[in-house]
Amino acid sequence: MNATDVVETLTIARWDGPVPVATQRRALAALEAGRVLFFPALAFHPAPDERALLSPAMLDNTRKNISLDPATGRLGGTALTGAERHRLAAMMTRFAAAATGFVRALAPAYAPDLEPARTSFRPAEIDDRPASPRHDDRRLHVDAFPTRPLHGRRILRLFSNIAPDGAARHWRVGEPFADFAGAFVPRLRPALPGSAALLAALGLTKGQRSAYDEIMLRLHDAAKRDGHYQRYAPQVALELPAGSSWLVFTDLVLHAAVKGHTALEQTFHLPLSAMAEPERAPLRVLERLTGRALA
Ligand code: SIN
Ligand code: FE
Repeated sequence: MNATDVVETLTIARWDGPVPVATQRRALAALEAGRVLFFPALAFHPAPDERALLSPAMLDNTRKNISLDPATGRLGGTALTGAERHRLAAMMTRFAAAATGFVRALAPAYAPDLEPARTSFRPAEIDDRPASPRHDDRRLHVDAFPTRPLHGRRILRLFSNIAPDGAARHWRVGEPFADFAGAFVPRLRPALPGSAALLAALGLTKGQRSAYDEIMLRLHDAAKRDGHYQRYAPQVALELPAGSSWLVFTDLVLHAAVKGHTALEQTFHLPLSAMAEPERAPLRVLERLTGRALA
């Protein structure tokens, strides 16, 4: 495996489009096939009065990221108050709007069904954060949310490296999802009967997990816990420079963020029906593997 297998580079430098139709087609095909769309010239520029915010001191030490929930406008993970809190929320809101406009222009077929979810600001150095294997994003994994069941809907994320000192963000990208799932699914322990209903009744999940959500969470944990897999599985190192952006289905693409600091990220959810090739979605791959409906 080498970088050209896992990355598609696009020279777009504007957030607000328009994107040529041939580029849209290339982008959609690469994205759904599980490649990272890399935009080396798509830079998000903090305003001069926002530069003081680009520091891990903005974190409240309970979490590694600061997040903005678009549904409530709530900012979590920071102890900032007053004008500084307002300034940080404004920067993240501007990024969310730029990211949303960009994805709509790049993938007009997704636009009607694209659901902007959380925006995150990631000021801390990744490599300074010792974590339990399950919480350690330096290990290869696919994304799955413990508290927000998706029932097969996709997780699409746009990242921008805004490191003021020019530090690159270092990722590793793993093998195709079908290969990974084919090896791991037969080894997964089944969920306890009734556990999804219980978690929902206790208010620990937002609605009830489907079998799909259970399997994705187990795949996330099993990959991270498997030291042999982490070390020997096929993987490619990527250096994502300051001033660049990248877009990736993180439920499909095995990824590890190993080093770097100061990034912004926008999450989107997308129903399978919006995809050009829904059979490439993790839900459909897992249904083929297990021979049953999972959502
Ligand atoms: C992750 O989704 O695993 C983290 C990505 C990053 O912060 O670069
Ligand atoms: Fe992740």
